[in-house]
Amino acid sequence: MSETLRFQNDLERNYARSLASYLLTGGEASLEQAYELGRMKLTGGSGVLDMVNLHHAAVTSILDHDSIPGPPLETIRKAGEFLAESMSPFEMTHRAVGEANAVLRKLNETLEEEVQRIALALHDDAGQLMVAVHLSLDEAVRELPAEAQARMSGVRTLLGLVEDRIRDLSRELHPPMLDHLGLAAAVEFLAANVGQRTGLRITVDSTLDERLPPAMAIVFYRIVQEALTNVRRHARATRVRIRIGKSGRLLRCSVSDNGVGFDPARIVHSNPAGLGLRGIRERLHALGGKLRIQSAEGRGATLEVTAPLQVMHADSTSARRRSSRGPGRTARHS
Ligand SMILES: Nc1ncnc2c1ncn2[C@@H]1O[C@H](COP(=O)(O)OP(=O)(O)OP(=O)(O)O)[C@@H](O)[C@H]1O
Ligand SMILES: [Mg+2]
Repeated sequence: MSETLRFQNDLERNYARSLASYLLTGGEASLEQAYELGRMKLTGGSGVLDMVNLHHAAVTSILDHDSIPGPPLETIRKAGEFLAESMSPFEMTHRAVGEANAVLRKLNETLEEEVQRIALALHDDAGQLMVAVHLSLDEAVRELPAEAQARMSGVRTLLGLVEDRIRDLSRELHPPMLDHLGLAAAVEFLAANVGQRTGLRITVDSTLDERLPPAMAIVFYRIVQEALTNVRRHARATRVRIRIGKSGRLLRCSVSDNGVGFDPARIVHSNPAGLGLRGIRERLHALGGKLRIQSAEGRGATLEVTAPLQVMHADSTSARRRSSRGPGRTARHS
């Protein structure tokens, strides 16, 4: 018999013994035992259902073999107390996870506020400076001979390009259309810009026909942003396909490329320096979502994220603001 199995059997026997002792004589010591046994089950990787099954098996065996004095209802009540005590480590863990998720959500919001601040500063401050540069240039150019003026028009064109680039970057950082038109439109905008900058052919297919809660939309937008950055930096791909839609009660989004691919298992364990995929996991965790990566060397990569819609839809304000956009949108950017 394996060590783990023996340990489980001992645990089950101890549980039944402590429960029987509690039913017969009561007492704090048995309840402390219940708590300790629950804690051991939890650290051994058991879930709530395992615990209930263990309890059920113990109650059945006690009722078969032991004679418990007192009315049956009293026995059931005490067995319930014992079970509740053994479950309290699970309850505490459940609460701790809830609290950790709340902290993660708060952290996401703080990060978002910071990104918005940078986006605005980039847009407004850099924008104002560029206007000042244009004005000074106009003034300086006016005093130059005609031939030099013609040459300066090239500089003006370049400055115009810098201005456009800054504006695009600030919009990419926090696209106003995410708030006004929703996730699909913002991702299309991002895809168009990235496609233009990198030469990647990026397709966006969205069947999303409802407006998402803002906190969810921004997380998915950031994930697509990081996925595209990864494709640009690591994949040596020529094509990317982004899909957004619902499946059942889940929001699903995938980013597939036709690049060099990688071994996700190796990355998870051997690349602690990379923050991108870790950041995606953490952002998703706060939404109760999941990340799945399908990739193999030489065979491209697909990053798929899902998160339950209903949790976020509990936020009634967002549920009210439904999008008027129809389903089946497809856009191509290259
Ligand atoms: N689409 C992809 N194609 C090929 N390799 C990828 C792709 N996406 C991720 N990877 C691999 O996974 C690794 C981890 O990605 P991750 O985004 O976590 O970190 P990073 O991009 O290296 O650094 P950071 O995101 O912190 O700037 C990358 O270094 C790369 O080796
Ligand atoms: Mg990255």
